[in-house]
Amino acid sequence: MKPTVSLAMPALAALVLGGCAATPAPVAAPPGYLEQARNLAATVPANLLGVLSAELNRTGPAGAIEVCSVKAPQMAQAASQKSGWNIRRASLRNRNPKGVPDPWERTALERFDSQVAAGVAASTLETWQVVTENGKPVFRYAKALPTQPLCVQCHGPTAMLSEPVKTKLHALYPNDRGTGFTPGQIRGALFLKKPI
Ligand code: HEC
Repeated sequence: MKPTVSLAMPALAALVLGGCAATPAPVAAPPGYLEQARNLAATVPANLLGVLSAELNRTGPAGAIEVCSVKAPQMAQAASQKSGWNIRRASLRNRNPKGVPDPWERTALERFDSQVAAGVAASTLETWQVVTENGKPVFRYAKALPTQPLCVQCHGPTAMLSEPVKTKLHALYPNDRGTGFTPGQIRGALFLKKPI
């Protein structure tokens, strides 16, 4: 048995070292990128929340649906054009069919969910990485969007949604998966990316 073991060891070592050599070293974010991403991730949802709260007070949740279906994408688009960052929202249980996460986004969202399950406050969660897309380096950033008490009017368990909200959501989003959330859970995340 002994010779087999001593033969296997160098082979194993070569495999391990080979594996290490093939793994690229993590690329650091260029100066300023993380700060810019964090700034946008703080201002974009806050601006939306301001418009949303005002409309909820004015017309109630059924009337405010348009803030989310029309204004939210417009505000993200405007912020994208102004800043040069690609900005979007996605969720593991998306309402808009466009809100399906890509593989990087999915990994971030799944990690956020397990961090919340481990007791970390959803509002503190963020992650970032330099990745290669189409052969070019891209800085990617994610910030969790926690479910707040006001969100459950449109994202809560269906029993908690008013009839007008249910009717409107069903008409706009027949494949809606964005319900059933309770405060503290992660509703989705804001994702930003910019080529380096
Ligand atoms: C008045 C109803 C309403 C309220 C209140 C509301 N949302 Fe939404 N939400 C929507 C609608 C409608 C969409 C689909 C938007 C679209 O078509 O892009 C949406 C989409 C989203 C998305 C994008 C991913 C997806 O599922 O399509 C996220 C993330 C999200 N909402 C988070 C929140 C959070 C967090 C709150 C509370 C701070 C909130 N929403 C409050 C109606 C609402």
